[in-house]
Amino acid sequence: MTQAADLLDPAERLDLDGLRALQLERLRNSLRHAYENVPFYRESFDQAGVHPDDCRSLSDLSRFPFTTKADLRAHYPYGMFAVPRERIRRLHASSGTTGRPTVVGYTENDLSMWADMVARSLRAAGARPGDIAHIAYGYGLFTGGLGAHYGAERLGCTVIPASGGMTSRQVTLIQDLKPSVIMVTPSYMLTLLDEFERQGVDPRSTSLRVGVFGAEPWTQDMRREIEERFAIDAVDIYGLSEVIGPGVAQECVETKDGLHVWEDHFFPEVVDPITGEVLPEGERGELVFTSLTKEAMPIVRYRTRDLTRLLPGTARVFRRVEKVTGRSDDMVILRGVNLFPTQIEEIVLRTPGVAPHFQLRLTTSGRMDALTVRAEARPDADAATREAAARSIVQAVKDGIGVSVEAEIVDPESLERSVGKIRRIVDLRERRG
Ligand code: DLL
Repeated sequence: MTQAADLLDPAERLDLDGLRALQLERLRNSLRHAYENVPFYRESFDQAGVHPDDCRSLSDLSRFPFTTKADLRAHYPYGMFAVPRERIRRLHASSGTTGRPTVVGYTENDLSMWADMVARSLRAAGARPGDIAHIAYGYGLFTGGLGAHYGAERLGCTVIPASGGMTSRQVTLIQDLKPSVIMVTPSYMLTLLDEFERQGVDPRSTSLRVGVFGAEPWTQDMRREIEERFAIDAVDIYGLSEVIGPGVAQECVETKDGLHVWEDHFFPEVVDPITGEVLPEGERGELVFTSLTKEAMPIVRYRTRDLTRLLPGTARVFRRVEKVTGRSDDMVILRGVNLFPTQIEEIVLRTPGVAPHFQLRLTTSGRMDALTVRAEARPDADAATREAAARSIVQAVKDGIGVSVEAEIVDPESLERSVGKIRRIVDLRERRG
């Protein structure tokens, strides 16, 4: 353990046996709570022929049915709650790219546990009581802003609740109030980078020491870009509203080797996305979570659609998930080849003359789908550099992913900037009847 033990909370100091025993006890309680108080779970367990009492070991969880986003939507807005509405202190909603949003609820204890998990995450990221934390995740129904906010307060930070947007003011606030920690989506951090440069302020000269970035996939190449351009440590925070919000898993600043799942509260499994079979540690598949302590909205085997693998703990006893580099929903199938936006991110960030801003445009060409990588030129790139960059992207995609795409290098500052979660794919395909 590389952190002074007195900075860790008791669960972080458990050994593996202690952790597994705690999880089993909590899992059994949580399954019972769900079964007894949420008609949806009672029906789905009954239908699958399982009862909470059947869970005698952690591996018995695999006998229980999955819960999907569609199940949550079908019970919109309050149907998944396990406590009387009067005990719900706060609601959040996940935006949902399509269809109805899903509403999530928290009791007072849930909010407190969430703040504890974000505080634990921040501490693992290298933040300490007394730090000034600038929060540029959006405040509102999105869990990013308020989730980060109460966690930073819980740790003992001075919080700047900046929220997203008003980019030039963000730069002023960072200049004037001198935060050491920033919490923001990685794509919005790049927008801030542009704004620092536009204002003629050296982004490496700020008081910032560490950035806690999440809510969207980002690559190791993006980490390098942000760390170098801002002279900070960039670490990854993961979470989803259905489970709690930010603070489900966190990378430690001293190892930066994947995200430790706070599995004393959120039990992870990785399953085969097609068969649903639980995969052994180290194998890639879909991440599934079961809450162990949530009161308002216990969640059993929730299919996140996030693709990753489980790895043993390093800096903490808790297992890690590898950086989540894609969601099954974001996968583009181009002429039979699977492609994730993060694969293109890696290529774009390695291409000389190109800025870290890109978009994937899908169109129909004859009976086929076509993909154009639109990436922005760096301001100093001349015409020849831009042409070479386009050729190099096409070649790298062909060699690395195995599919032909087109590449267009557009003028600096011509692609839309992110203020929160970025949308990489612009789908202009004709709908086939
Ligand atoms: O994005 C919660 C959050 C806020 C996490 C701030 C981290 C920081 P949702 O809006 O419900 O919640 O979206 C959840 O975002 O299933 C992933 O697909 C994606 N996601 C979140 N964190 C990461 C990450 C918040 N670190 C969905 N890396 C998740 C990759 C992430 N994807």
